[in-house]
Amino acid sequence: MSAQIINGKEIVADIREGLKQEVEALIGQGIRPGLAVVLVGEDPASAVYVRSKAKACEQVGIHSEVYKLPEETSEQELLSLIDKLNRDANINGILVQLPLPKHIHEDAVIDAISIDKDVDGFHPISVGNLVIGKPSFLPCTPAGVIEIIKRTGVSMAGKRAVVIGRSNIVGKPMSLLLLREHATVTVCHSRTADMAAIAREADILVVAIGKAKFVNRDFVKPGAVVIDVGINRLEDGKLAGDVDFDDVVDIAGHITPVPGVVGPMTITMLLKNTVEAAKRAAGRK
Ligand code: GUN
Repeated sequence: MSAQIINGKEIVADIREGLKQEVEALIGQGIRPGLAVVLVGEDPASAVYVRSKAKACEQVGIHSEVYKLPEETSEQELLSLIDKLNRDANINGILVQLPLPKHIHEDAVIDAISIDKDVDGFHPISVGNLVIGKPSFLPCTPAGVIEIIKRTGVSMAGKRAVVIGRSNIVGKPMSLLLLREHATVTVCHSRTADMAAIAREADILVVAIGKAKFVNRDFVKPGAVVIDVGINRLEDGKLAGDVDFDDVVDIAGHITPVPGVVGPMTITMLLKNTVEAAKRAAGRK
């Protein structure tokens, strides 16, 4: 039997429509959510992501400001911009697109963002709150994955979940969010022995390892929910996920195609966090 292919367009359109209505209502009360997106350097993939984020803001009525800074921007100059944005009442969320040029310390930049505006959920205080289950902005990619899984109708409570990848942006927070949903969670990574055997135990398999078509059918339990966070450019110019979709599609229960689901959901969660930040700033939450 072939897997149900998760329809990203439908889920994203549904959530964004809800956000649009919420933003309209807020604007009616004199509250316009605002997001600042900061891009340093010329990385073409990052430039595409930043444009998509600004366009998505426009779609739901969020005010957005894009700051494109040259590659040679100093750490101090970037920190000064963040300081200005922290104090700007029109800005509720600040996102600095990663990766940053090598001469800038990523940690120093993330630490400088006010936790009230940390819509990426990368600040150490936001991460700490996530670990201990206190309210915080959730990192957008893993939060989007949870929303996608919920919409399959498959319950996570008591299920075996395996996360492949342990990055700070995806793998680690993903494992915490699955735990929060009461799954039994295993994290696999580059040093894991016999990864396929571990992955095959998963009812829910989330793959974020950054290697094209790494996961084939040997990794997949029949009927599992398979979420592919990867996006890799192949030599022929085509995009591929971390999962070998064609090999896995007839064994999984539900599967996300790449591109089209996790990427747009990540941006949608950023919009959601920005609306949330605006409500908190206005004392409506
Ligand atoms: N680079 C890749 N993913 C992300 C993300 O979710 N947020 C930021 N700021 N940079 C990224």
